[in-house]
Amino acid sequence: EEDLVVLGIETSCDDTAAAVVRSDGEILSHVVYSQADLLARYGGVAPKMAEEAHSRVIDEVVQQAIEKANLTEKDLSAVAVTIGPGLSLCLRVGVQKARKIAGLFNLPIVGSIIWRLMLWLTEKDLKFPFLALLISGGHNLLILANELGHYVQLGTSIDDAIGEAYDKTARWLGLDLRKGGGPALEELAREGDPNSVKFSTPMRQHKDCNFSYAGLKTQVRLAIESTKTDMENNPISSASSEDRRKRADIAASFQRVAVLHLEERCERAIEWALKIEPSIKHLVVSGGVASNRYVRSRLDHIVDKNGLRLVCPPPNLCTDNGVMVAWTGIEHFCLGRFDPPPPVHESEDFV
Ligand code: KG4
Repeated sequence: EEDLVVLGIETSCDDTAAAVVRSDGEILSHVVYSQADLLARYGGVAPKMAEEAHSRVIDEVVQQAIEKANLTEKDLSAVAVTIGPGLSLCLRVGVQKARKIAGLFNLPIVGSIIWRLMLWLTEKDLKFPFLALLISGGHNLLILANELGHYVQLGTSIDDAIGEAYDKTARWLGLDLRKGGGPALEELAREGDPNSVKFSTPMRQHKDCNFSYAGLKTQVRLAIESTKTDMENNPISSASSEDRRKRADIAASFQRVAVLHLEERCERAIEWALKIEPSIKHLVVSGGVASNRYVRSRLDHIVDKNGLRLVCPPPNLCTDNGVMVAWTGIEHFCLGRFDPPPPVHESEDFV
């Protein structure tokens, strides 16, 4: 049987991404245009601004993905695109682009909910059912994946997601945000004492698997205010060594509790899920925060204790990217879940 070649397009949040993947698991190309700089200047994801940024680069990103794969549109078997979860303004940019290409080149189109995330590419023996944890800047989700397309949501963020808490904490601590708030905070936390500042763990009284980081953010802000240092407006690069240590202590203490909250939710989810699905063997962790080494090692411990294995896609594939979209598209396509090519006159109308 001939291999399928699928173009994946992803614009659900702040990265514009496209990739071409073959059904034997080969990644032919992988292009990501990050809005991180723009967002660092602005201090968060503003949907309208993100939408405009996607619109500016989407053609170029898709073009590059196709060229780097040494293909033309005519070689594609289908176009896959993220249809959720994400910011609807942003999702629309990707969907319009996908429909345009599909229309012009007569290709079927697959809309993917990207909870499925990369699985077979990294872990060939991963089997349903499994647990999946998404930890990104916009979402926290715990999912029991029974089979392709059949997911039970065990928990979700009721306010801010963990990545958002990392980003804000990094900003308030005056860290250099150019390489991303999360990585900067992870690095500083290594210098600090994780037990020095007493933050309380979120949602302990709620015996469910939901996530909340708004309260922890407030605790961090108060802790920073109580130091009487304007950390946000005084970059850490020019801080005294005592000031730097204080910031590192807050960073480490924040990280310990932020991740403890993840650990507790995952442990509850594992116990609960194993009761109904004893054959579960894996917890798959994805999203930008999954590239954090402390997060991985703590989750590894929890998973191990419960006889499961942790599966993390490689860090460069943990953030928004077209590869997982293309791959999910291939799987759906093989199950016959796709839409026929959109009519060409429609695609010509696109601005
Ligand atoms: O999955 P992602 O790219 O999706 C969103 O756009 O939401 O995740 C981005 C988030 C950001 O909040 C970023 O700060 C966080 O993932 N992140 C990290 C690390 N690397 C990225 N958070 C903690 N530690 C990291 N090493």
